[in-house]
Amino acid sequence: MLVWALFLVACVASGQSEDLTKYVRTDTGSIDGGNTFPGVTWPLGMVKLGPDLENGADSYSGYQPNGNFTGFSMLHESGTGGAPKYGVVSQLPLIGSITNPLDNLHDTRASPDVTEVGYYRSSLGSGIVVELAARTRGGLYRYTFPNGTMDRNIVVDVSHVLPSYRGQGLGQNYLGGQIDIKEDDEQIHYEGYGIYDNGWNRAAPWRVYFCGYFDTPVAYQTFLSDGRTSDVLVEYGNKTTYESAEARLGAVFFVKNTVVQSRVGVSFISSEQACRNIQEQIPAGTSLETVRDMTKSAWNTDVLSKFTTTDTNETMKTQLYTAMYFTSLLPTNKTGENPLWESSEPYYDDIFTFWDTFRCTTSLLHVLQPEAYEEFIRSLIDVWRHEGYVSDARSSNWNGAVQGGSNSDNVMADAFVKGVRGKIDWNDGFAAMVKNAEVTPPNDDDSRDPSGSVKEGRGALPDWIEHGFITPNFTRSVSRAIEYAANDFALSQVAHGLDNATAAAKYLVRSRNWRNQWNPNMTALGHTGFLGPRDLDDFLDQDPMSCGGCYWGDYYYQGLPWEYSFNAHHDIAEIVSLVGGRDRFIDRLEKLFTPGLIDGNAQFGNTMFNPGNEPSFGTPYLYNFVNRQDLSVRRSRHVAKSYYRPTPDGLPGNSDAGAMESWLLWNMIGLYPLTGQTTFLIGSPWFQDLTIHLAEGKELHISSSGGSEERFYVQSMKVNGEDWNKSWLAWADVFENGGTMEFVLGDIPTNWTTGPLPPSPASEGRYM
Ligand SMILES: *[C@@H]1O[C@H](CO)[C@@H](O)[C@H](O)[C@H]1NC(C)=O
Ligand SMILES: *[C@@H]1O[C@H](CO)[C@@H](O)[C@H](O)[C@H]1NC(C)=O
Ligand SMILES: *[C@@H]1O[C@H](CO)[C@@H](O)[C@H](O)[C@H]1NC(C)=O
Ligand SMILES: *[C@@H]1O[C@H](CO)[C@@H](O)[C@H](O)[C@H]1NC(C)=O
Ligand SMILES: *[C@@H]1O[C@H](CO)[C@@H](O)[C@H](O)[C@H]1NC(C)=O
Ligand SMILES: *[C@@H]1O[C@H](CO)[C@@H](O)[C@H](O)[C@H]1NC(C)=O
Ligand SMILES: *[C@@H]1O[C@H](CO)[C@@H](O)[C@H](O)[C@H]1NC(C)=O
Ligand SMILES: *[C@@H]1O[C@H](CO)[C@@H](O)[C@H](O)[C@H]1NC(C)=O
Ligand SMILES: *[C@@H]1O[C@H](CO)[C@@H](O)[C@H](O)[C@H]1NC(C)=O
Ligand SMILES: *[C@@H]1O[C@H](CO)[C@@H](O)[C@H](O)[C@H]1NC(C)=O
Repeated sequence: MLVWALFLVACVASGQSEDLTKYVRTDTGSIDGGNTFPGVTWPLGMVKLGPDLENGADSYSGYQPNGNFTGFSMLHESGTGGAPKYGVVSQLPLIGSITNPLDNLHDTRASPDVTEVGYYRSSLGSGIVVELAARTRGGLYRYTFPNGTMDRNIVVDVSHVLPSYRGQGLGQNYLGGQIDIKEDDEQIHYEGYGIYDNGWNRAAPWRVYFCGYFDTPVAYQTFLSDGRTSDVLVEYGNKTTYESAEARLGAVFFVKNTVVQSRVGVSFISSEQACRNIQEQIPAGTSLETVRDMTKSAWNTDVLSKFTTTDTNETMKTQLYTAMYFTSLLPTNKTGENPLWESSEPYYDDIFTFWDTFRCTTSLLHVLQPEAYEEFIRSLIDVWRHEGYVSDARSSNWNGAVQGGSNSDNVMADAFVKGVRGKIDWNDGFAAMVKNAEVTPPNDDDSRDPSGSVKEGRGALPDWIEHGFITPNFTRSVSRAIEYAANDFALSQVAHGLDNATAAAKYLVRSRNWRNQWNPNMTALGHTGFLGPRDLDDFLDQDPMSCGGCYWGDYYYQGLPWEYSFNAHHDIAEIVSLVGGRDRFIDRLEKLFTPGLIDGNAQFGNTMFNPGNEPSFGTPYLYNFVNRQDLSVRRSRHVAKSYYRPTPDGLPGNSDAGAMESWLLWNMIGLYPLTGQTTFLIGSPWFQDLTIHLAEGKELHISSSGGSEERFYVQSMKVNGEDWNKSWLAWADVFENGGTMEFVLGDIPTNWTTGPLPPSPASEGRYM
C-alpha cells in the first residue's frame, strides 16, 4: 500500500511538471499569410530573436520559408500585416573575406529551419549553423562554423531593419546610430544604438540600444558609409567608435574558434542598461541549453499549465497548446524600458491592434495571465496620463494606427465589468475613455486618412457627436459608426459601475446611434435593411454584399455591409427586430455561410463570412440570441475544424497578434466572450475534460460526455451542478470563483435552450 501511495504521489508531482511545450508547434501560421513569428521569445517578451529573410516580399515577422538570410535580429512582431515593423539589433555570420560590409550581405538556406519553444536553428548555405535562445531583454547566438574554413566573421550592421515592398510609404527607415567597441575584463564587446522610424504605425524616430559580448577572443573592423542608404564605404578599419545621423555604420568581428557564442542585451533606455540586462539575464558562461530550458519552464508556468486536460488526442492537444502560445507573444511587457517618462506604473507596448484583439484575445489574456492583464490595463491608463490618449494600437512607443473605433474602450470595460481592480485607478481609466469619446484628436496628416487622425482617438468624432452618425466627410464612415457605438456602450458600462448615472445614461443613448446608420432600403438576397453610408439628409446607394475597396478610403473597412450589420453586440435584440424578426435573422446569418454568393473569399468557398477577419469573429455565435444554439455550434465548429490546423499554413489569415488563435481557443473551451459585457455565449467544448486554472487557485472544470468529431451538438448541460437552459452564462457564474460546466453532446440538434435569451443591454436599457 505504502509503495502504491508513493507511486501515486510521484505521478502527481511529475504530472504537475509535465513539459507542455512539446505540444507547441512554433512554426504554426508562419507561411501563407499567417505571418507568425517562429523564433524564440518569452510570454509577452520584449525580445523576439529570429531570422530575417529577404525574398522580395514583405517579411512581417522577419521569417520567410524561402529567400536569403540577411540577419538574425532581436525585435519582431508576430502575425501582423500592413507593413513590417522592427527586425533590428542584428548579427549575420559569414565566411570569407568581407571587402564591403555594406554590400547587400546575405547567405542562402541549406535546409529548413528548426524551431521549438525556446530554441531556433538555421543551417546556412555556407555551412554555418546558427542557434538561438532568448530571455526577455536579451538573446544568445551560438554559431558553429564548418571545420577547415578561414575568415569567420560576424557582421553587426546597425542599419539592418525589415524593409517594405508594398509601396504605401510605410517602410521603416534607418536614421542613424552609434557603435562603440570596448575592451574590458580582457573581453571585447560592442555597444551602441540605432534610430529608426515609420512602419505600419508611421512612428516618429525611436531608438534602441544594444550591448553584445562574445565568449571567445575576436578581432574587429568598424565601418562607416557615406550616407544612410549608401553602400559606399568611407572608413573600414580599427577605429573604436562611430556615431552618425548621416551614415550606415557597424562592425565586422573576426572569430578564431569554429564555435562561438554571442550574448546581446537590448534596451530602450541606454546602452548601459542593455549591458546590465544581458549580464543579469544571460551571464557569461550560460549555455544555450540552459536558456532554452528556462524559456520552456517560463512558458509552462506562466501560460501553458493554465489549461490541463486528461484527454489523450495529440492533435487536439497540439492545437490547444499551440494556440495558447501564439496568444501570448504580444503585447510586450516593457516595464522598466519606457524611455518616454518616469513612472511607477508598468509599461506595455506592441498592441497590434485592439481592432484585432479586443474580441477574443484580451479577454483570454485576463483568464490566462491575470497579473499581466492588470499590469497591461494600468500601462494603458499611464499612456493616457502622459500622452493624452490610449490608442487602438501602439508600437515602438508610438500610438497608431487606428483602423476603426477606439477599441481600447471595449478592453477597459471588459476588465472593469469582470471585476479587475488591483492597483488600477478606474477614475483615471474612465477619464481616458471619456477623452476618446469627447475630444477629436488632431489630424496627423496620414495619407491613409486625410479626414482625421490615424494615430489615436476617434478621427470621425465631429460627425458622431454632432449628428449621431458619420457622413462621407470622414472615410470608413459606416464601419466606424458601428465601432463608435460599441465604444460608447463600453463607456456606459464603466460609468454605471462608477455610479456616474449621468454619464452612464448619456453613453447608453449614444451606443444606440448605430441605428441612425441603418438604411431600411438596402436590399440583397431577399433581405432589406443594412448599415449604409449616408449624408445629412439621405442614404447613399450601397450594395449590402460589397465593400468596394474595403480599405482606408472606403465606407467599410475590411468587411462587408452584411457582416457589419450584425456587429452591435450590445444591441442584438434591436437588430433582430430591424431585420424582421427571428426567422429572418436566422436566414440572414445562414446566408453568410452559404457558399458561392460572392466573388471574393475563394479559399472559404466564396462565402460572405470571412474566418480570417475579425469583424466576422462573433457572427457564428449570434444564433444564440434567437435560441438556435445548435446552429451556433454547427457554424463555429465548421469554421474551427476547417480553417485551423497546427501546421505552418494552418491559419485562415494573419494571426493578427494572436487574434485568430484566441478565437480558436474560445471555440475549444465552448464559450464566446462578448467583450465589454459579462456575458459568454455557450458553444460546444472540444475536450472530454478541460480545467482552466484561474487566479488564486480557483478552477473552472469543463467536461463533456458523448462527444466526438461528428457528435458535437449540445443535448443538455449543467453549470455548477445545476441543470442549465440558457445559451449563455456570465463571468460570475464560472470564472469569478471557478465552477463547472458539464456538457452532454450528441449528433442530433436539440432544443435545450428554453431559458431566457442572452441580454441585449442597449435594447433593454440596462447595463451588464
Ligand atoms: C539568394 O542568394 C543567392 C546567392 O547570392 C542569389 O543567387 C539568389 O538570387 C538570392 N535569392 C533571393 C530570393 O534573393
Ligand atoms: C570539427 O572538428 C572538431 C575537432 O576535430 C570535431 O569535434 C567537430 O565535430 C567537427 N565539426 C564538424 C561540423 O565537422
Ligand atoms: C585591425 O585591423 C586589421 C585589419 O585591417 C586586423 O588584422 C587587426 O586584427 C585589427 N585589430 C584589432 C584589434 O581588431
Ligand atoms: C483527434 O482529433 C483530431 C482533430 O480534432 C481528429 O481529426 C481525430 O479524429 C481525433 N482522433 C481520435 C482518435 O479521436
Ligand atoms: C513585467 O516586467 C516587469 C519588469 O521586468 C516584471 O517585474 C513583471 O513581473 C512583468 N510582469 C509579468 C506579468 O510578468
Ligand atoms: C462636409 O465637409 C464640407 C466641406 O468642409 C462641409 O461644407 C460640410 O458641411 C460637411 N458636412 C457635414 C455633414 O459636416
Ligand atoms: C461623470 O462622467 C462625466 C463624463 O461623462 C464627468 O464629466 C463627470 O465629472 C462624472 N461625474 C462624476 C460624479 O464623477
Ligand atoms: C426608402 O425608399 C422609399 C421608397 O423609395 C422612400 O420613400 C423612403 O424615403 C426611403 N427611405 C429612406 C430612409 O431612404
Ligand atoms: C427549436 O425550437 C424552435 C421553435 O422554438 C424551432 O424553430 C427550431 O427548429 C427548433 N430547433 C431544433 C434544432 O429542433
Ligand atoms: C430554466 O431553468 C430555470 C432554472 O433551473 C427554471 O426555473 C426554469 O423553469 C427553466 N425554464 C424552462 C422553460 O425550462
